[in-house]
Amino acid sequence: MTNKEQEYKNLKIISNPIVNQSLCIMRNKETDTQGVRLAARKLTRILLYEATKNLPQRNIEIETPLTKCTAQTINSDITIIISPILRAGLIFTDEAVDILPQATIRHIGMYRDEKTLKPVWYYNKVPMPVEDPSKYYVFITDPMLATGNSLVEAIKLYTSKGIPQKNICCVCMISAPQGIKTVFEEFPNIKLIVAAVDSHLNERGYIVPGMGDAGDRIFNT
Ligand code: URA
Repeated sequence: MTNKEQEYKNLKIISNPIVNQSLCIMRNKETDTQGVRLAARKLTRILLYEATKNLPQRNIEIETPLTKCTAQTINSDITIIISPILRAGLIFTDEAVDILPQATIRHIGMYRDEKTLKPVWYYNKVPMPVEDPSKYYVFITDPMLATGNSLVEAIKLYTSKGIPQKNICCVCMISAPQGIKTVFEEFPNIKLIVAAVDSHLNERGYIVPGMGDAGDRIFNT
């Protein structure tokens, strides 16, 4: 367990050779868009596996070609939402729908005001009726957790509907200590999964060493 994980009980930092190699490729300024995407996709799958660990399961009776048996599967009476923060968060969606085909995708559009570093809304697909909030499981995806301001806004959309913090999992790749602090100060009971905690933010709000602008590097802009 790292110091940061000791400080924040709901933070999980995933580190293994595949994760580290993917990060290494993504961070390298010599890696082209195709290389960044491939590495990012590989990384998202690993992070999402960890994120889905606590989804409620139930036992069902099935028949294999050999015999009857009891098998575990994800509860079908829950609603699973994948919420990518546009635009860089989209990199998670293909892998996420492969892993969780039953999920609904609810996009969140925010960009960062370059002067204030505050999020500015431009698209919100979250207004939705929520009948039994405890049955909702939300995965908010954004590769870069920098100031934490966008993530806090995104989480609020769901907690304001009564969805418990413990059912909300934020999945990021590279994070800054400031962002982690901001998010947990406001929402101590959400889950946060990252692959790396970097040193700091620079004066323009970029994560250092980071990978630069994730959206630009993923979408070749
Ligand atoms: N968003 C990015 O794409 N990169 C950063 O370093 C910070 C926010």
